[in-house]
Amino acid sequence: MRIDVYTIFPRIFQSPLEEGLLGKAIRRGLVEVRIHDIRDYAPGKHRQVDDAPFGGGPGMVMKPEPVFEAVTRTLGYRLEELERLKREVSVIMLTPRGERLTQAKVAELASRSHLALICGRYEGIDERVLQHLCTEALSIGDYVLSGGEFAALVIIEAVTRLLPGVVGNLESLREESFSGGLLEYPQYTRPAEYLGWKVPEVLLSGNHGEVEKWRRRMALEWTRRMRPELLNEGDKGEGG
Ligand SMILES: C[S@@+](CC[C@H](N)C(=O)[O-])C[C@H]1O[C@@H](n2cnc3c(N)ncnc32)[C@H](O)[C@@H]1O
Repeated sequence: MRIDVYTIFPRIFQSPLEEGLLGKAIRRGLVEVRIHDIRDYAPGKHRQVDDAPFGGGPGMVMKPEPVFEAVTRTLGYRLEELERLKREVSVIMLTPRGERLTQAKVAELASRSHLALICGRYEGIDERVLQHLCTEALSIGDYVLSGGEFAALVIIEAVTRLLPGVVGNLESLREESFSGGLLEYPQYTRPAEYLGWKVPEVLLSGNHGEVEKWRRRMALEWTRRMRPELLNEGDKGEGG
């Protein structure tokens, strides 16, 4: 998979793309991430990327031209070829006004071959970018960040870990929160007792059937408490 990112703060991406599973996936060539500075495509000596909003109001709005130029030129399309670009690349605007990201959406994105993520700053980006350059708009949650960079990193990380070969043990993807419709059960490791707090006895029993039952019950209990809307009708009464 290839992911192109458009931002006016490219250095934000340096360390996150080098560390952990994501860094390893990039080094192994399982995902290719290219970061582009929108300012490089802004005209004039001052490389201006923002301007006051038409109609008045606070703050500044990112201008359309540098974003259109950055995306088309880096991906090798002409401005007259936007329809072809959008058929071949998923161009995603990051905005709190977008569709809210879920694990199901992440899985869908992971099945595509080429994503382009556009990060806004200030009051956002001129709407013509969303209307004519983007294929969709995504939000990572119901809160407002100062810029789309961390939202882009959330998407890159969540999508990459679903790509073949990135997570070594496929079992861990299957058991994760949201994958089976429930949040995950609690996990423990050594020591079996710490400051007098004991690990649940059943996990030390070696009885796999009982461990499975306990995990299922805990996953249900936790989901019912934290996120009841995730439960199917049948699960709502199950587990005691
Ligand atoms: C300060 S926000 C602009 C918020 C905008 N004025 C509004 O009220 O919808 C600046 C940029 O941060 C990014 N951003 C902020 N919150 C986000 C979220 N929940 N999901 C995705 N991107 C977000 C977007 O790229 C946005 O253009």
